[in-house]
Amino acid sequence: MTVTFDQILYGGDYNPDQWLEYPEILSEDIRLMKQARINTVSLGIFAWAMLEPEEGDYRLDWMEEIISRLYENGISVILATPSGARPHWLADRYPEVLRVNEDRTRSLFGLRHNHCYTSPAYRQKVRMINQKLAERFDSNPAVILWHISNEYGGECHCPLCQEAFRNWLREKYHTIDEVNRKWNTAFWSHTYQNFGQIESPSSIGEASIHGLYLDWRRFVSSQTADFCRWEIDSLRMAGAQKPVTTNLMYDHSPLNYHQLAEAVDIVSWDNYPDWHKRADSLTAADTGMEHDIMRSMKKQPYLMMESCPGAVNWSSVSKLKRPGVLEATSLQALAHGSDSVLYFQIRKGRGGFEKFHGAVIDHYGREDDRTYQECRRVGLGLEKLRDLRSSRVKSRAAVIFDWENRWALENAAGPRNQGMFYREAVRKSHHAFRRLGLNVDVIDMTQSLEEYKIVAAPMLYMFRAGFEQKARTFAEKGGTLILTYWSGVADEYDLTVLGGTPGGLMDVMGLRSTEIDSLYDWDSNFLVPCMNRETAELPDGKTAPAGGASSWRPENFAETYRCSRLCQLVNVTTARPLFVYGTDFYAGTPALTVNRFGEGLAYYICADAEQAFYDDVYREIAREAGLQGPLSWEIPDGVEVTSRAGSQTEYIFIQNFSGQAAAVPVNRLLSEDSSLSVLLMSSPEIPAPGVYAFSDEVKEELPPFGTLILARGRASARPAAGKV
Ligand code: GAL
Ligand code: ZN
Repeated sequence: MTVTFDQILYGGDYNPDQWLEYPEILSEDIRLMKQARINTVSLGIFAWAMLEPEEGDYRLDWMEEIISRLYENGISVILATPSGARPHWLADRYPEVLRVNEDRTRSLFGLRHNHCYTSPAYRQKVRMINQKLAERFDSNPAVILWHISNEYGGECHCPLCQEAFRNWLREKYHTIDEVNRKWNTAFWSHTYQNFGQIESPSSIGEASIHGLYLDWRRFVSSQTADFCRWEIDSLRMAGAQKPVTTNLMYDHSPLNYHQLAEAVDIVSWDNYPDWHKRADSLTAADTGMEHDIMRSMKKQPYLMMESCPGAVNWSSVSKLKRPGVLEATSLQALAHGSDSVLYFQIRKGRGGFEKFHGAVIDHYGREDDRTYQECRRVGLGLEKLRDLRSSRVKSRAAVIFDWENRWALENAAGPRNQGMFYREAVRKSHHAFRRLGLNVDVIDMTQSLEEYKIVAAPMLYMFRAGFEQKARTFAEKGGTLILTYWSGVADEYDLTVLGGTPGGLMDVMGLRSTEIDSLYDWDSNFLVPCMNRETAELPDGKTAPAGGASSWRPENFAETYRCSRLCQLVNVTTARPLFVYGTDFYAGTPALTVNRFGEGLAYYICADAEQAFYDDVYREIAREAGLQGPLSWEIPDGVEVTSRAGSQTEYIFIQNFSGQAAAVPVNRLLSEDSSLSVLLMSSPEIPAPGVYAFSDEVKEELPPFGTLILARGRASARPAAGKV
């Protein structure tokens, strides 16, 4: 099922339940929303205590009234199930809904997002309120989507959850002997005699069985997804037909999000980057990667469910977004395939934990406010981009980022317990592709590799879901496969591979990994190109063997690149070294290799190299594989190029996050390709309303945080110059 909307959704979380005693506020909010071109709000996310103030006493009229008022004013509703925060009576009457922590203490009532997902009492109460909401509101034309709960997360170690975990294990392993085998419990004499002895991992109990830890993470993910399905089923049982989503979080490693993505009709997530904390280009690139992760789970348009119009209030330092950043980050979501720009929150609350969290409407309450004006400007821009919705981001390059691999890798008690930097390794590959203007999917090991030309699988410590076979076939049929250090070391139970690594792919890579050197934070080594040379000379007077034939030229590379943290040593069989290590006892041994396998190529990156190495190496790999971005242009640093393909038009976003003006050869690009036209240009320097369409006298410079959108193949290319 692909969920589509008839406009780009613009708006966000709205909490009129906090303002029921101020009827004038609703009218004023509607006026301001319309003026800002807000067309959608999410309602009822934390309204359970207002919807059911006493057990069984449902009060939905106020909600109906608000929904009607909004709809009359052209504002649609994403309606939430309120399970993200429970009312007091529920916890008082059914204490089993309160979570038990890993140290086996039970929480008191308070905060939110902290319920036992196993508790039958909680499930029952959630089912009832969800059904009431579905019966009353699903057929309401204002309601376009269900927002299931809010940011599922955390875990519960209560007796009910322990029993559910044991049942989950029984179903997976059938016998306790099989559990012992797969978890290698003979180590330290931890052999289980029966399932009843199994307890979830705990700092006061079992923390040394990695298979237990992995299965616990899998169980928590599947129990959370099961709870989400329970909520959805409740709506469906009451006749609901509207699509459902649940909002996911940035880089949330404890839950395998693929399982939640499977449960819903459309993926959505909450985007809160720390702008201006480090170089904005890095923040933009990392945010872009998170968008790619979210899109790639279903490979369909998704929603940005939350983002902050101003500054958040929960950061150690909540810095204001500089002018233009809101628009740039909103358009970035669109560029990566989102069909919405939604905020937390429309109106700033008066009290409670989030009273200073940025909002479209401030406590001040009027429109002559910088944040409000920026929101309005974004709204005006999005109206012009309506045709983009439902178009797809198609990628020929993919990077694998696998939740289960991350759990195993980070818990394995391995070469570097003070940080393996998995996400960073993924990010380096991702960014190297993005610098070439390539769209990139970020997928997990269960997904197909077939549609890609290049697949990078950094630090895939664990091979699972038949990855070895998929990777082998992929290379055999002509794909370019990139693996790195610390790959193919363990299986899905975290049992190590016997007989050499990367397990099952040694012939594909043409090498065997022998030892891995862990470096202290202050240590480093370096990598030296050796392709097409008789011998590579190393600074300490040693020489390395020639790299053999390759279309790569040493002059396209720096003389050396720094590497740190992890250095894998390898013995090559059929692979050719392209780089060697520069120093230490393994100086001169391979540090980057390539192997021809079937119709394809397999690269092995041995060390945690600096970004520049990835940039330069991936540029050559992409060239060799014939992959190019959508424009014939060497993209300056900090400028992002992303494209969405509609049925007839390709939309190419050029966004400048570099912090300085960036030259864009628009006129050359237009003259070289007559199907190309300028669709939109926006930047902080252009005064409100902010979005201009133009063609002939295009300025060849994009100011910081400016966005230029080109369209390829539109029927009416080259719109007239001037304001729209
Ligand atoms: C999100 C959450 C919202 C709000 C927001 C503040 O994580 O879903 O309810 O708390 O953070 O930034
Ligand atoms: Zn529990």
